[in-house]
Amino acid sequence: MSVVFASIGMSLDGYIAGPNAGPGNALGDGGHRIHEWALDLDGVEEDQGHEDADEHVVREIRLRAGAYVMGRWMFDEGGAGRPDPPPFRAPAFVLTHHAREPWTRRRGAPFTFVTGGVTTAVEQARDAARDKDVQVVGGATTVQQCLEAGVLDELQIHLAPVLLGSGVRLFDRVTAGGRRFDTTRVIGSRGVTHLRYRVSDT
Ligand SMILES: NC(=O)c1ccc[n+]([C@@H]2O[C@H](COP(=O)([O-])OP(=O)(O)OC[C@H]3O[C@@H](n4cnc5c(N)ncnc54)[C@H](OP(=O)(O)O)[C@@H]3O)[C@@H](O)[C@H]2O)c1
Repeated sequence: MSVVFASIGMSLDGYIAGPNAGPGNALGDGGHRIHEWALDLDGVEEDQGHEDADEHVVREIRLRAGAYVMGRWMFDEGGAGRPDPPPFRAPAFVLTHHAREPWTRRRGAPFTFVTGGVTTAVEQARDAARDKDVQVVGGATTVQQCLEAGVLDELQIHLAPVLLGSGVRLFDRVTAGGRRFDTTRVIGSRGVTHLRYRVSDT
């Protein structure tokens, strides 16, 4: 059975994007600093030669993802908005309130728009992923809904040692005490700590 996991970068003070996030300012003011550790890791899954902790984590995530779930905002900024090569190389299921036809970039896998809510999107992604796992890409509202609906098996947080002061919080609107988190791995480098939790009912 596929594992449904979220993988998301976060600042030390709990933000996944800085203030004033919007079109043209995807990660908000200063939010790019959350991902500075990953800047040179784009083609990392093809490089089997050497591997530090950050490369290991990124490669592992890319190889295990057989389908993606994301919010429409994330699709606009991280899917349709990104040039080739496509960052998402497996079928993606995009949450939206507005039904539309599937979209496929020139090279790459289809994006299917789901109006039935997060549980439906995860079910469709599980079918598409076959024996691989389902990655919940974000943004914040999508991860929050997966947690609240109880469909998330694993949460990975890539904690960057930066303070953003304000912005988009990962855990807004999540019921305190609703989920149990067991730490299953902590590894890191100078620029980031990779935290992995198994998520279950309390
Ligand atoms: N740090 C990281 O690793 C990371 C990763 C991903 C994103 N981010 C940041 O997160 C921010 C975006 O987060 P977000 O939470 O605003 O965006 P999001 O989750 O990507 O998208 C929100 C949109 O998804 C649709 N949606 C969500 N839940 C739905 C539901 N139950 N039913 C139908 N449609 C639903 C709605 O689209 P419609 O308006 O089309 O109905 C909603 O406006 C950005 O600043 C982005 O840069 C950071």
